[in-house]
Amino acid sequence: PPEHRVRELVTARTGGHVPTPAEQEEIAAGLRQVYEEFIALRMHYQFGIDEVLTKVEVLRKEFEQMHDYSPIEHVRTRLKSVESLMEKALRTEGEMTVRAIRERIHDIAGIRITTSFVADAYWIADILAAQGDLEVLTVKDYIASPKPNGYRSLHLIVQVPVYLSTHVEQVPVELQIRTIAMDFWASTEHKLSYKYEKKLPPALRAELDDAARVADELDQRMERLRGEIRPQAAPGGG
Ligand code: GTP
Ligand code: MG
Repeated sequence: PPEHRVRELVTARTGGHVPTPAEQEEIAAGLRQVYEEFIALRMHYQFGIDEVLTKVEVLRKEFEQMHDYSPIEHVRTRLKSVESLMEKALRTEGEMTVRAIRERIHDIAGIRITTSFVADAYWIADILAAQGDLEVLTVKDYIASPKPNGYRSLHLIVQVPVYLSTHVEQVPVELQIRTIAMDFWASTEHKLSYKYEKKLPPALRAELDDAARVADELDQRMERLRGEIRPQAAPGGG
């Protein structure tokens, strides 16, 4: 964990002085307890994924039955490991309690939907957002406003109710919706930044910038061809 976060934990426990071995043990025990609680809680986030996944599958199958093709190319889910959750919790500002961590980290549960066309990405987002039991917490439209590095994608944090035996839990799920072209670029960028630990050589940076431009252009060209596949166009109203 970053040094200032360790200091924070120590200050919270000791008021600032160098922790005694007993206090060190208490801090470690506190973190272990948070870790243990998340091991149990993690399942609820899986249920959240399952709930949203069902909604996406219903849309996909219904559409396929009506139109013989699907605006949804593929769907992938991801549940953050407790290790990377703890690591992110320590990296981000805020208390190291289960409640505080759950409030500030909304990508424990994640679903990535890949579409053929840009309009389909918005179509799926709009249909899901209109569902009464699903609440949209945030929308980040990196398609309309790409990130400076060229990243494009539509991000939503949605909250779904999960019916447990004793109570209903509202679970946030991160949705990333993007076209095949956007996805291809993002996964390549991810691999490159991983390999170069964010310090991309300028020549590669330039290649990647250019690839982002080409991917965007491809999406625009595909959007024009889309009319041919779907004369009375459904998704996106286009
Ligand atoms: P976190 O870093 O996850 O806390 O996200 P954030 O609060 O900055 O939100 P944002 O919507 O920007 O990013 C969420 C997720 O989108 C990331 O965890 C990645 O999976 C993906 N993402 C965002 N930016 C990029 C990018 O530049 N390249 C790639 N490949 N993926 C990105
Ligand atoms: Mg993330």
